[in-house]
Amino acid sequence: MANNLWSCAVLLCFLTLTLEVKDGFGMVKPASRACIVGAGYSGLATARYMKDQGLNFTVFEATKYVGGTWRFDPHVGTDEDGLPLFTSQYKNLRINTPRLTMEYTGFPFPEDTQSYPTGECFYKYLKLFTKEFDLYPYIQFRSLVTSIKWADGQWNVTYTKVDTKTNHTEQCDFVTVANGEFSSPVWPNFDGQQDFKGKMIHSHDYKDPEDYRNRRVLLVGAGPSGLDLAMHLSNVTSKLVHSHHLKYNQPYFSETYVKKPDIRMFTSNGVVFQDNSFEEVDDVIFCTGYDFTHPFLDKSVGITATGKFVLPLYQHTINIRHPTLAFVGVSKKILNSVLEAQAEYVAALAAGNFELPPQESMLKIWLTHVLTQKARGMRLVDVNVVDNDADDYFANMTAEAGIRRRPPVLSDIRQFNARYRLEDLLNYRDFDYQIVDDHNYKRWYNPRKGNPCPFED
Ligand SMILES: Cc1cc2nc3c(=O)[nH]c(=O)nc-3n(C[C@H](O)[C@H](O)[C@H](O)COP(=O)(O)OP(=O)(O)OC[C@H]3O[C@@H](n4cnc5c(N)ncnc54)[C@H](O)[C@@H]3O)c2cc1C
Ligand SMILES: *[C@@H]1O[C@H](CO)[C@@H](O)[C@H](O)[C@H]1NC(C)=O
Ligand SMILES: *[C@@H]1O[C@H](CO)[C@@H](O)[C@H](O)[C@H]1NC(C)=O
Ligand SMILES: *[C@@H]1O[C@H](CO)[C@@H](O)[C@H](O)[C@H]1NC(C)=O
Ligand SMILES: *[C@@H]1O[C@H](CO)[C@@H](O)[C@H](O)[C@H]1NC(C)=O
Ligand SMILES: *[C@@H]1O[C@H](CO)[C@@H](O)[C@H](O)[C@H]1NC(C)=O
Repeated sequence: MANNLWSCAVLLCFLTLTLEVKDGFGMVKPASRACIVGAGYSGLATARYMKDQGLNFTVFEATKYVGGTWRFDPHVGTDEDGLPLFTSQYKNLRINTPRLTMEYTGFPFPEDTQSYPTGECFYKYLKLFTKEFDLYPYIQFRSLVTSIKWADGQWNVTYTKVDTKTNHTEQCDFVTVANGEFSSPVWPNFDGQQDFKGKMIHSHDYKDPEDYRNRRVLLVGAGPSGLDLAMHLSNVTSKLVHSHHLKYNQPYFSETYVKKPDIRMFTSNGVVFQDNSFEEVDDVIFCTGYDFTHPFLDKSVGITATGKFVLPLYQHTINIRHPTLAFVGVSKKILNSVLEAQAEYVAALAAGNFELPPQESMLKIWLTHVLTQKARGMRLVDVNVVDNDADDYFANMTAEAGIRRRPPVLSDIRQFNARYRLEDLLNYRDFDYQIVDDHNYKRWYNPRKGNPCPFED
């Protein structure tokens, strides 16, 4: 099903591109006016590099805040302004990748900071970054972008001012879309799901383990959220039933933790699994991941965007159809250094510092990339994944655009961490990492009491 959809999408984009290829040039003129959607990690990185380039730009941010998904918001469903919540942050979260892979270039945490600080601490880091690089004056808050349209050689970016509810259109000759990829929850649909009488939420709306004290909880999924919540909830709940099919080194969570296979169906008071066993539960938390969401992209943009993929993008960023629109942060298997490098690459393009290949070549390169991934056994829908090839990607972007080379050691740390997390889930954060040189890092056991953060509010 997904593959068919994908084939259709590829075919469609090919048709439009080949029919209109005359219209395309690889050359991007220096932007006299650039617009960025979103002031999370990616949008802030883009702003920093655009400022370096001396560009005239504005960041449109829906909320009153920078930091995107790193800001904890106690609201559920909609925020104080009635907007859907764009953050999925929860209490007690600690980052699951060493901070060295998440730091902005040239802006490290103080050296003695633990390698896995809290989400709250990372949010403080982002606020400090915004202040230090003097980016606040460039951010227009409470401006929800509702439409991006290609209008004869430039972009019409329309946003709603959240306070006055008025709509405004800004004309931009370069647009960067950095609206995040973890705010649109994927809800599964099992038989009997509507009959279940207890509370059902998606991890997007999960806030605090205290909400589940002494309750019988079903946790669904073992992605990053599912595994993390298993740790947060196993000693708080009276029973934690965890349905998933991940093969990993499962630790001892607690006496009341029960591992179950995939779900067959729900009943009014519980759930039946594929092995026909039954568990009575009070609450359900679906840790079933997120879809991409780009509701503001008009057809004229020339991008095929679904929940599962965004295509065709050259270098995982550039809209091949109209190369003056770019994405930062639509790459799955997040390595923040990748987003950071994308931001520098996109700012260099907007400044006219390098020339893109002709449109047809970009399309060919993109297609070759997709087919190579397929040959390596990845699914076709995983066209936006930057994973173990992250270092080649860094090298390639540097060779093309002259941006700083992110060292191989960053992808090495990410890969090691991704494996080791599944080996020793309960303790992998008790290690500290230090970069020795571009190819080597040190790692040593250093459990810390509490989770001190070096930054003020
Ligand atoms: C719970 C959770 C834990 C995570 N933990 C880690 C981790 O440990 N390590 C790691 O490397 N990564 C982690 N990530 C991945 C994380 O998404 C990235 O680290 C990074 O923060 C992504 O930044 P972003 O700017 O691309 O997106 P976001 O942080 O989502 O920011 C997007 C911004 O765009 C704004 N916006 C959205 N739509 C509009 C619109 N229409 N108009 C205007 N503004 C808009 C939003 O308000 C938001 O401010 C985690 C993600 C989640 C959800
Ligand atoms: C930046 O662009 C805006 C919108 O086009 C314009 O009003 C403003 O004068 C420009 N600022 C500078 C410093 O050029
Ligand atoms: C783009 O915006 C301008 C200014 O608001 C408007 O005049 C024009 O009609 C718009 N073009 C399209 C294609 O929407
Ligand atoms: C503003 O735009 C939104 C989203 O497109 C639309 O629903 C709303 O009706 C518009 N409001 C006004 C006052 O035009
Ligand atoms: C829960 O508590 C038990 C007993 O103190 C402990 O062995 C276990 O590691 C704890 N589980 C988690 C996930 O912290
Ligand atoms: C980047 O990779 C593409 C695809 O593998 C290749 O065609 C291109 O030559 C590379 N660019 C540089 C500058 O190395």
